[in-house]
Amino acid sequence: MIALSDINKSYRVGELVLPVLRGITLKVAAGEFVAIMGPSGSGKTTLLNIIGCLDSVDAGSYSLAGEVVDRASDDDLARIRNRHIGFVFQLFNLIPRISALRNVELPMIYSDVSPAERRQRALHALQRMAIADRADHAPSQLSGGQQQRVAIARALVNTPELLVADEPTGSLDSGTGREIMALFGELNRAGTTIVMVTHEEEIAAFASRIIRLRDGIIATDEGG
Ligand SMILES: Nc1ncnc2c1ncn2[C@@H]1O[C@H](COP(=O)(O)OP(=O)(O)OP(=O)(O)O)[C@@H](O)[C@H]1O
Ligand SMILES: [Mg+2]
Repeated sequence: MIALSDINKSYRVGELVLPVLRGITLKVAAGEFVAIMGPSGSGKTTLLNIIGCLDSVDAGSYSLAGEVVDRASDDDLARIRNRHIGFVFQLFNLIPRISALRNVELPMIYSDVSPAERRQRALHALQRMAIADRADHAPSQLSGGQQQRVAIARALVNTPELLVADEPTGSLDSGTGREIMALFGELNRAGTTIVMVTHEEEIAAFASRIIRLRDGIIATDEGG
């Protein structure tokens, strides 16, 4: 599903060039549940953004679901993201002033799905996340765990093969975090490939493979 080969990525800050990823080679097969760990600043988010086609690489090759993406245009990247990838973030990133249901409908706005069908699919995704009873609530009327359920429903509504999550439990208490991981486990068993960044060992333990970054390289890769 994911094949990265010798990926390099630097950030330029003024005159300084800061190497962040230094030769990452990595394959993830369809159906895996992978956790990426490592110290703050080791490049986890940078790597996840590349995997999620949110950021480009300086050197190396990347193919996702058989498509070469390292030289894709911004339009192509948007199309690839839409078709293949769902995103979950630490701070949920829901649109504040619209209902949970409308938030989950958003990824379908640019598709040719009819409004009735959009509503149906969004409700179904909320049901899968056991939060359909809050469909009419605005994000501010929901707890953190409930907001994350809505965000996961939104990530799933276009039935992506790949779910990419950056610290999905980072804003939640540990009990709620475990509930979210139980949902990830269900999605994974139903066939969704998951790549998740976390700094919590207890959360990483829900994954079947743990990759540890250190200073922009893969230090260890276990369980795959
Ligand atoms: N847009 C940017 N411009 C310049 N430097 C950046 C940018 N994004 C990240 N960096 C730098 O790249 C390095 C890696 O950042 P990254 O966000 O990937 O780390 P991380 O492992 O996710 O850390 P954390 O655990 O704190 O989230 C850091 O030193 C950071 O300062
Ligand atoms: Mg990060």
